[in-house]
Formats: sequence, C-alpha cells, structure tokens
Amino acid sequence: MNDTIAALLAHRSVRAYAPDPVPAGTLEALVAAAQSAPTSSNLQTWSVLTVDDKATRKSLAAIARGQKHIEECPLFLVWLADLSRLEELGRRKSASTDALPYLEPFMFAMIDAALAAQNATVALESLGLGSVYIGALRNNPTEVARLLGLPPNVMAVFGHCIGYPDPERPAAVKPRLPQNVVLHRERYTAPSQPAIDSYDERLAAFQQSEGMATVGWSKMALERVGGIAALTGRDRIREEINTLGFELR
Ligand SMILES: Cc1cc2nc3c(=O)[nH]c(=O)nc-3n(C[C@H](O)[C@H](O)[C@H](O)COP(=O)(O)O)c2cc1C
Repeated sequence: MNDTIAALLAHRSVRAYAPDPVPAGTLEALVAAAQSAPTSSNLQTWSVLTVDDKATRKSLAAIARGQKHIEECPLFLVWLADLSRLEELGRRKSASTDALPYLEPFMFAMIDAALAAQNATVALESLGLGSVYIGALRNNPTEVARLLGLPPNVMAVFGHCIGYPDPERPAAVKPRLPQNVVLHRERYTAPSQPAIDSYDERLAAFQQSEGMATVGWSKMALERVGGIAALTGRDRIREEINTLGFELR
C-alpha cells in the first residue's frame, strides 16, 4: 500500500458539488495528466472539450435523461474519440488514410480517450476534486455532435462532471466484486455463485446505507441487459456512429 494506491481505492463518483469554481490552471493540469496517458502507437486520437454555456449544458442534460449534475457542476468536459486529426493530416499531405474507416481505429480512439480521461480523474481526485462520467451522452451521439460542432470522425465518448464534492451530500466508496471473480490465473474460470451472492449482499448493504433501493448487484445488472429499452436509445448506436463518419468496416 502507498498513497497512490490508497487514493485509487478511495475513488467514488461525485454527483453533488460545492459551488466553488475549479481554480485557474486546474483544467490545464488535468489535460496535461490526460496527455501523459499511454496512447495507441502514440497516435493520440482523442480530444477534450469544455462546455460552459448554460443552454448547451441543458440540452446535454436532456440527452442524458435529466442528469442535473451536468447543469450544476462547475466544470463539464466531453471526452472525444478523434480520428479527424489524422484524416486532415492525410488530406494536407496528400497521403492515404485508407485504414481509418475500419473498426480498429475507432476502437483505439475510444480506448485512448478513456485512458486519457481516467488519468484526468486520478489527477483531479488528488486535488480534492470529485467527478462522474456521463456515458448517457451516447443516448444521442449525433445530437451531441451537432450541439458541440464536432467534425466528421469525432464522437463524444462520455461527458465528465467535475467539482469540489458538496460536504453536505458526500459520496461513499462503492464496493466491487470479490477479486477472485475478476482475477483469473492462466485459464479463465467462471465465477462461483456464492462469490456473486456475497457481493449481492455487500452491495445491498451499501445501497441501504446510501438510501438507495436495496436491489443488490445481480438484479440491477440483469435489468441493465434485460431488454432493448435498457439501452436508452443506444440500440441504434452503430448507425449513429456511421452517421458521424466512422464506417466501422
Ligand atoms: C464510461 C462510464 C459512463 C458512466 N456514465 C454515467 C452516467 O451517465 N451517469 C452517472 O450518474 N454515472 C455514470 N457513470 C458512473 C458509474 O455509475 C460508476 O462509476 C459506478 O456505479 C461505480 O461507482 P463509483 O464510480 O462511485 O465507484 C459512468 C461510469 C463510466 C465508467
């Protein structure tokens, strides 16, 4: 154990913020941390965009089915998978970019954006800030692209609400699956049911202490994959991504 690991283990998503603004220079420090993340072949196929405009925040919150923290947080970022830079580079240099329309570049752009964002999250938590990702922006990627003026071959991977945690509404550390469920040695082994049952009990106790519905993990997880309605519009995401210019060949 050391301070870095202790900080990682203390992570919790923060959805309630104090009104204090994020200090000057913090955004640049977070982006520096993000840019230091590993990136596939050093291609750096991501960008990040800040959104201050109230009306835009409101529209984004509506896309995210009314997640108020998008309007309330002092700093709102949108992490982008960005293949447009490489495409533009090819155009300027009259060089082929024939590999870009394939699924793999889209995947590494998404991975790069997520790794960069998580570096920013670790950095911001080290500064006493808190945050929550907003995957719900993918409910309507084309509308998000329109609102943010994204060029073709750029997609919002998720939003990111950032601010100082409201001491009146503190977030707690959410327990995770037992390690032996996620850690496999040499060969993959299916998790034992008692391990899952024990996690259901631990998560239910957490939910109860947080005043949430005490459904445990299995029920909640199965509801999220139980039907197309649970995808909140994202069942059409392949077509949406195509519309944004990514062919996903
Ligand atoms: C890619 C991604 C998208 C997420 N989208 C949302 C979201 O739209 N709204 C939200 O409240 N939380 C969102 N979360 C936060 C998760 O719900 C949260 O990380 C998870 O429940 C574990 O809780 P913890 O972060 O407090 O440990 C997202 C997390 C990730 C990694």
